Amino acid sequence: MSSNFKKPFSTPNLNIFETSEDASIYVAHLIAALIRERQKQGQHAVLGLATGTTPKIVYQELIRMHNIEGLSFSNVISFNLDEYYPIPSNDERSFSYFMHNHLFQHVDIAPHNIHIPNFNCSNADIINHCVDYDQKIIKAGGIDIQLLGIGRNGHIGFNEPGSDFDSVTRLVDLDMATKEDALRDFISLEEVPSHAISIGIHNISRAKKIILLALGERKSKIIKTALQGEVTTMLPASVLQDLSQVEFVLDKEAGMLLG
Ligand code: PGA
Repeated sequence: MSSNFKKPFSTPNLNIFETSEDASIYVAHLIAALIRERQKQGQHAVLGLATGTTPKIVYQELIRMHNIEGLSFSNVISFNLDEYYPIPSNDERSFSYFMHNHLFQHVDIAPHNIHIPNFNCSNADIINHCVDYDQKIIKAGGIDIQLLGIGRNGHIGFNEPGSDFDSVTRLVDLDMATKEDALRDFISLEEVPSHAISIGIHNISRAKKIILLALGERKSKIIKTALQGEVTTMLPASVLQDLSQVEFVLDKEAGMLLG
């Protein structure tokens, strides 16, 4: 891994790396350090995990560390940010499938420590399920590291523009920009689920450390606005500007418009 590429303006919590791989490996090492520190203390590490293109290399590196360096996930409790609703559990486009495929089946995390918003709950059960999800996070001691990507509309999790900063886990309507981006996995817009269950901005804000990872030029405009524009519910990621526990980790393409 090469060292930091540059810090274009004086924000202590911004790291811009030369390549997407360097940025991702840096994030994986932060996560691994937490897991190992908690192991030494005989404690759990509670991870808030994300899906999408962005975290794939992070998960690859964690798997590499598991296979080659003996990094164990036996003390990890995970909570995923979101899941489409409804979507069958065995659907390859579900976030549950993504997580098992890209991380969980390759490491020694205990299945009962994995939490993903439930795609199987009935309409009538959704509110109870969401309350239960939030309570499980609190019971686990809160999220130690929350990993986030950013949508091109500024969403974090599936907290779409207009989401309250005090929102908690709930059923959400997906924004058109989000559905269009999901087209890489679905054949047509009609096939993309119109809803999802997402943890809220309040849940994210309570994490002890938050890492927002953004990679590639296609994220550069939204990163510029989210980090240096107005803090507004119309751009959910802008809430992170005011949180001291946030670290923005970018590759140079994603950070190219910052100044
Ligand atoms: P991506 O999605 O990693 O696939 O770009 C990020 C997000 O929508 O949060």
